[in-house]
Order: sequence, then C-alpha cells, then structure tokens
Amino acid sequence: MSKKTEQAGPATTGKGPASSGASGSNGASGSNGGAAREWKAGAGRAIDRVARSIEVGAAGAGREPGERRYLNYKDPHWVPVGAAFAFFAAVDMLVLFLMPGANRSLASLLPPTLAGLVVLLTLPSLLALYKQQESIEHQKRQIATLHAMDTAIASERELEAVLDVAARQATLALDGERGGIALLDEACRIEAEAYHNTPDDSRDFLRSVVVSGRGDDFWQVARVPITSGEGLLGYLAVLKPQPGMPFTAESLGLLRDLAGTVVVAVKNAQALESARHLAQVKSTLMADLDAAQIEILERLSQAAEYRDDDTGHHTQRVGRVSALLARTLGLSEERVALIRRAAPLHDVGKIGIADAVLLKAGKLTPDEFARMQAHTRAGAALLAGGRSPLVQTAERIARTHHERWDGSGYPQGLAGEEIPIEGRIVAVADVFDALTHARVYKRAWPVEEAVAEIGRQSGRQFDPRVTQAFLSLPHDSLL
Ligand SMILES: [Fe+2]
Repeated sequence: MSKKTEQAGPATTGKGPASSGASGSNGASGSNGGAAREWKAGAGRAIDRVARSIEVGAAGAGREPGERRYLNYKDPHWVPVGAAFAFFAAVDMLVLFLMPGANRSLASLLPPTLAGLVVLLTLPSLLALYKQQESIEHQKRQIATLHAMDTAIASERELEAVLDVAARQATLALDGERGGIALLDEACRIEAEAYHNTPDDSRDFLRSVVVSGRGDDFWQVARVPITSGEGLLGYLAVLKPQPGMPFTAESLGLLRDLAGTVVVAVKNAQALESARHLAQVKSTLMADLDAAQIEILERLSQAAEYRDDDTGHHTQRVGRVSALLARTLGLSEERVALIRRAAPLHDVGKIGIADAVLLKAGKLTPDEFARMQAHTRAGAALLAGGRSPLVQTAERIARTHHERWDGSGYPQGLAGEEIPIEGRIVAVADVFDALTHARVYKRAWPVEEAVAEIGRQSGRQFDPRVTQAFLSLPHDSLL
C-alpha cells in the first residue's frame, strides 16, 4: 500500500475533512509545509477519534462501510464533549478564584477560557440535539395519529362510517375546527361525503371548499387529493379560522398519509357494498327462480288433478293437511314448507293413465289395478333427477304415498320407517281427502267416519305417530 493510500484511508472510512485534506500530502517529507500538513492531519484524526469514541447506538450503525463522514459540529454526539469541558472549566475556575493563594495570572486563565470556548462551540450541537428530539416527538405524534386513524377506520365496514371517521380524525390530527371528505364519480360529481363539526347551513360552503380547495377571509384550508391506481377518488380537507397558526408542511404530510389510509378503507367498504349488492341481486334471482319452479310444479299437479277432479282442489287440500301434520310432528318450518309445496304433486303420475282406467266407475280388473298402481313409479320417474330440495321431496312423495306401515303397500312394499316421513304424512292426508269427497266411483264419507277409518288403520296402513297427529287436528276445517 502506498503512503498516499494509507493517509487517504481514514477519510474513506469517514473520519473528516482533516484526513480528507491530508490525502494529497507526501507524509514525512521533512519540509515545514509538510510538517504543518502532517500536524493538521494528525489533529484531524485525533478529533475524529474523539468523535468516534462518543458515537453510540444506532448513530454509527446506519453508515455503510467505507462511507465518507465529515466532522459536523451540529452532531448531537458532541454534547457530551461540551459537557465534559464545561465541567472542567467550572472546576478550574472554582480552584482559581476560591482557593486562597491560587495563581490568577493570564496564563492560568487560559485553560478555563479554552474550555469555555469549546463549550460555546458545542452549543450548536446542543441546539441540534433539541431539534432532533423535537423531530422525534413530532414523528411519534404523527405515527400515533395514523395508528389511531387506522384502528378507527379498520373497525368500520360501512362506507358512510369510514368517511365520518376520516373527516373527524383529519380535523383532530391537524388541530383544525372543521373537516370534510368527498368522493367523486367519474364525472367529478360527489357520490359520497362526510363533514366533521359542520352545521347543516354550512355544508354547502364546506362542500365547495373541499372540492375547490379554496378558503376565504375567515378560513384557511389544508386539502389533499385522495388517489388510487385508478386515479382521483376525491379530496380530504381541514379548515381552521383566519388568522391563526398556518398549516405547516408537516401538517400537509400528515394529511396526505391520512388520505392514503382512507383509500384502503374506502376500497374495502366499496368492495363490501358491491358484494352485498351482488348477493341481493342473486337472492332476488333465486327467489324468482324458486317462484317460477313452484308455479310450474303447481301447474303440473293441476294437470294431473284435472284427470279425475275437475276442480283441482284435491291436490291443494292434500298439501295443506300434509303441512299441518308435518308441523304437528315437529318437523322444521323449512321441511313443512317443502311438504306444503311438494305434496300436491303426489298423483302427478296419473297423467299417463288412460281415462278408461282412471275414470272407470266399476271395479278395476287386476290388470287395470296394476296400471293404476303404476302412477307412483310414473310420477317418481317424471320428477327424478331434480336438483332442488323441492323436486326431490316431490319425487319421494310421488313414489311412496301408497306404501303402507305394515309393508303391504306399493310400489316397493316398504314398511315402517323405511317409508320416507313425507310419504307417510301424505298417505294419511290423501286418504282422508279421498274418503271425504265424492268420485265418479264412490260417495263422500262423513268426516267422523273418515276420521274413524284413519284411526283404525293406525299401525296397519298408517304410521301410528302420523295417525296420532292427524287425530289431534280440527277435522272439519280440513275439508
Ligand atoms: Fe296416488
């Protein structure tokens, strides 16, 4: 390593102008000028060592290796040096002036005078330290304000509430008297707004101030735009009376930070509102779809009913009585509603049965009876593969409403609880309605006789629990 490089070394490691200035000397040249430069370089390095010795904590940690660092007498780390010299000067002066017989010559005053001079030179450092601490406190207040706003906004989900919080927090953070926020649509029209501490009769004025950014003789304004990647979203503004302490650059910086926080909250609230709107649209569409499905199924059940009952009321009565039985048995209201809608389709399979069999007044032959029994399978086949709970329930009812509790029914000969509860319920409702209303092949039974017949079939044709529930109903109202 050359001499020049050796002497430049301390400068490149951040040791001040003295070492930097020495980088061009030839070191131990022996000349007076060279000796003077050597002395200056040595003195500079000595001062730098002092400066390094008082560097603590993160003050030196943020510097890159090899980074040049010049002496800075406003560096707050000089404060301990000044304090040490002040202590030395005070002690020296006490010794000189208080101790009897002390030497008070000019030469003896020189050390405390120099020490005092050092103290004076260190005053800028003390001032810088004060400013640095003040800056740190200011940053702490800003961070606390932003944190408070983040917390307040994060707890809000509704757009209106988010804007209210933003207007209030911005006003408080800037020590203003009034505050406002306005969101604009693509045509720059206000689509949402909120104002803090603003009477109703001042809303129009504040709205114009927020949008234009212009105050008047009575109000000074701090306003920042609210922007996202999509462009301008609106404005956030704070007002305070004139005359008064003007808004500072730090205030505007804080307002800009608040506007950044508002963007995130507004986007979240708008996304939530959009999701709610979509959910509402979907709900409406689903309701329309359900209504259309129910209407189609009702018309289908009427088409089957008109084959042997031109009034079409049988199917609706069976649906109503079945729902009453389901509720009496303690089924959920959801299942009660499904049974109410699906039960009228129990005989939909009759669409495929010839009139000669369906409307025959006399006794059916075995072949005709078998064709009549086939309406259960035909109805189930017609409704098979349905994706909605309503169609699936209707399929189970169409297939099983002629099964019997004792297993002697059709089409599968299911017994007991093998029969779906919907089928057991509709079996009772269907027989009661058929007995109490006339057909081309039979008269109508009195209600008491029909109820007695249902009771006798408990445990044979009908589920005893369903029979018991039926017997508890007001039968005259079921016709
Ligand atoms: Fe039937």
